[in-house]
Amino acid sequence: MKKYPTIIDNIYAEIKDIKDEGKVANYIPELGCISDENFGISITTIEKQNYGVGDFEKKFSIQSISKILSLTLAYQLEGENLWQRVDVEPSGNPFNSLQQLESDKGIPRNPFINAGAIVVCDVLIGHLKNPKEDFLDFCREIANNYDINYNEKVAESEKRTGFRNVALCNFIKSFGNIKNNVDDVLDFYFHICSLELTCKELTEIFMYLTEDNYTTHKGNSIITESQTKRINAIMLTCGFYDESGEFSFRVGLPGKSGVGGGIVAIHPDKYCIAVWSPKLNEKGNSFKGMLFLENFTTKTASSIF
Ligand code: DON
Repeated sequence: MKKYPTIIDNIYAEIKDIKDEGKVANYIPELGCISDENFGISITTIEKQNYGVGDFEKKFSIQSISKILSLTLAYQLEGENLWQRVDVEPSGNPFNSLQQLESDKGIPRNPFINAGAIVVCDVLIGHLKNPKEDFLDFCREIANNYDINYNEKVAESEKRTGFRNVALCNFIKSFGNIKNNVDDVLDFYFHICSLELTCKELTEIFMYLTEDNYTTHKGNSIITESQTKRINAIMLTCGFYDESGEFSFRVGLPGKSGVGGGIVAIHPDKYCIAVWSPKLNEKGNSFKGMLFLENFTTKTASSIF
């Protein structure tokens, strides 16, 4: 941990007031209400030490970052059969694209684009008695934190305006790759996206991706060593949609972004780091978040490459 706080403080000070050309996502109206001044960073190391700066203890809408959690639970419950429903290839397309589904016959390219995450929700509904409650319990157990909740206002806001997701879910169902009721699947998907965490909580919840054979405080294991490797691999290749190559090129870590402006990145042997700054670049990824992480892995020489 020693060297990280000073480097984080220095990069934070350098980036905090630079001109940010990005825009806060407002296609989900409730997300547009957040102040674009928020900027927080948190790190948790494998020695379980935390450090944070700025707005690292403010809750925000983690949006697509939650797709790592839904994928993890679906992989735990469904095992390798999961890959018959969703592929593991980068799509090279925007996160909400419908385009490839036609030629791919309703099998989404990967679990991190909206189409793939919607299929993962359908898989989870097939396993869970009370999907929304059970998913929350799962998150609370791995985070060892019972103060994790959905934001009903954000979920409602997306339900009213999520026309592309409605189209995606119906389109996939037409190919037979959605087994449950479309409204139930979408309600679950919108709730999962509305999950709220702080940067500090994000770094704590994702520690299971830095450790082989991680067990929760209750002694339960989450996923196997091989599954951990695979989820990290999908984050590296697909975590930033059509900017995944750019993130890998500039930052060099498995990671995942959300339109709430959060980014989480994992160094499998060293740490989990999270950044939050709500203004997004044109690909839907936090502008300052990417810049911060690029500087961080360069100055600490701690990418996976
Ligand atoms: O489905 C949506 O459009 C949002 N709930 C999540 C999108 C998202 O976070 C993509 N991330 N960059």
